[in-house]
Amino acid sequence: MCGIIGYVGKRQASPILLEGLRRLEYRGYDSAGVAVIGADTLVTRKRKGKIEEGLGTLLGQSPVAGHCGIGHTRWATHGPPSDENSHPHLDRASRVAVVHNGVIENYDRIKERLVAAGHHFHSATDTEVLAHLIGEHLARLTSVPEGTHPLAAAVANALREVIGTYGIAVVAVDYPGTIVGARRGSPLLIGVGEGENYLASDAAAVVAHTRQVVYLNDYDVVTLTADDFAVTNLGTETAKVQITRLEFDAEAAERGPYPHFMLKEIFEQPQTVRNALRGRVDLEEATAKFGGLNMTTAELRAVDRVVIAACGTSWHAALVGEYLLEEFAHLPCEVEYASEFRYRNAPLDKHTLLLVITQSGETADTLAGLREAKRRGHKALAICNVVGSTIAREADGGIYLHAGPEIGVASTKAFTSQVTALTLLALLMGRIRMLSHPRGNQLLRALEAIPDQIQRILDQNERIRQIALKYAAAEDFFFIGRQYNFPVALEGALKLKEISYIHAEGYPAAEMKHGPIAMIDERTPTVVLAPNDALYDKTQSNLQEIKARKGPIIVIATEGNTRIAEAADDILYVPATLDPLYPLLNVIPLQLLAYHIAVARGCDVDKPRNLAKSVTVE
Ligand code: AGP
Ligand code: GLU
Repeated sequence: MCGIIGYVGKRQASPILLEGLRRLEYRGYDSAGVAVIGADTLVTRKRKGKIEEGLGTLLGQSPVAGHCGIGHTRWATHGPPSDENSHPHLDRASRVAVVHNGVIENYDRIKERLVAAGHHFHSATDTEVLAHLIGEHLARLTSVPEGTHPLAAAVANALREVIGTYGIAVVAVDYPGTIVGARRGSPLLIGVGEGENYLASDAAAVVAHTRQVVYLNDYDVVTLTADDFAVTNLGTETAKVQITRLEFDAEAAERGPYPHFMLKEIFEQPQTVRNALRGRVDLEEATAKFGGLNMTTAELRAVDRVVIAACGTSWHAALVGEYLLEEFAHLPCEVEYASEFRYRNAPLDKHTLLLVITQSGETADTLAGLREAKRRGHKALAICNVVGSTIAREADGGIYLHAGPEIGVASTKAFTSQVTALTLLALLMGRIRMLSHPRGNQLLRALEAIPDQIQRILDQNERIRQIALKYAAAEDFFFIGRQYNFPVALEGALKLKEISYIHAEGYPAAEMKHGPIAMIDERTPTVVLAPNDALYDKTQSNLQEIKARKGPIIVIATEGNTRIAEAADDILYVPATLDPLYPLLNVIPLQLLAYHIAVARGCDVDKPRNLAKSVTVE
């Protein structure tokens, strides 16, 4: 949720902040604002709405001069989207400005105390309370620890009173040329420039200016000037500073010739699946290999159960992983919503492996699930896309997706990369147990064919768009599939609902007759995933049950199966592959169907209402 950017250097801050916020807008877009320090002035500009019609227009009409400033795109948690609830928020004296990502859980008690002391608040947000608290501590500062900047000391003192999560950036009139940042539970990084430095929620905001970044850890407090930065800590551990070089360039974070990031990322999938496979296929031994699991073969062999915690699309990928681990490695596997796992107190014995799956590496519930397993002494691995993200750094080891930045709020390429990584991991776990060399080899060869097969489906984009237009007016949709394709049905439903706002549900195909089929009528389309797999005939029966009730049917079938076309209102074909690999192919037409339906309905595909890309609040 929300995007934070800070700049201090020789250039005008305002244009850099605005450009950075545009690159962060996918993280939250209820409102946006900036605060810039000028000659003994602190000027803020902020407005409800997306940047183009809001802050961008405002800054065009009323520009702000200064070489040091901070900016914010908001995903509201406390107080509706409005001009006054937009960040930055000011302290009582209007001499300190704060932008914040996260939730101050005890803001009401702090606010009560400050109101009693004569403070007046202009917004309904928790963040404004933090701004006033920092201003109070700055005004009351009597001593500053050796080597600590006064503003950093005031911020640290204020944060010691705070319960909750934060990624913040702070500027003050009395300290021009200085930005203070701090984090606990929300991401924050330093972009290291030459004669200028940046602060940001994620690397997409700074990659156009620098590839050198420092990922901050929880409780870090950073003091940033044009020529230097210093990281101290709220006293829990030594602040360590490691400069990381970003593995992607600015172009990767841009839309290119595509109308939406989502379409670009759908079309990147042949390449991103190749990236996930690269260097990890061992045909000689018919197995997979990873460089970052940080677990010996003996440790992997000793694993007798796997628990996977994730959210949203990553949770759907995890469900595919469950079928893969059970079939390839005969490993018991449970998939948990991370938000439930962290409080459920699930019994984990000493050979249980906890695996978290997350594209952003910053999802608060998934991070909490990881920390809960580690608190109980378990090995925890992460399958993650963002190098240097909090979860990637706190896991004991893991697998990077190498899919490049995923900007579209609706996750697409991350899903196929996650499933690819899970397929390789299940293969590895199987081959150190009972999976045979021939079977391993067969799976790897089929896996290596997937990128080109995805391309063949993408080549049908125009036909998929035509079909999508036929169903764009529907208000309810079902997606059904069996076994490996049941999670894909869930994913197809999520894609459709989160960008087109159509009510959509996914079910195991056989489950329809246990209630949901009551919803079927001629206005309610069902997408049936019916590849030539082991349960094709069973799925066929479920298709007929829906057809008998006049439900429109879109079938996703295997190339060459012309018979099933007779039962379908519309049919889309995917190439033949092995049963466990169909999720990698069947999801592609579902992504494109959702995309084209949302476009036809005039929805904002990359920035759907109420959503944000990285859910860093609980
Ligand atoms: C999926 O399209 C959504 N954007 C959302 O469900 C997302 O998958 C979920 O928030 C998990 O995000 P993560 O993979 O970054 O942890
Ligand atoms: N809790 C703050 C607010 O509601 C910050 C939300 C965010 O992370 O964008 O304004």
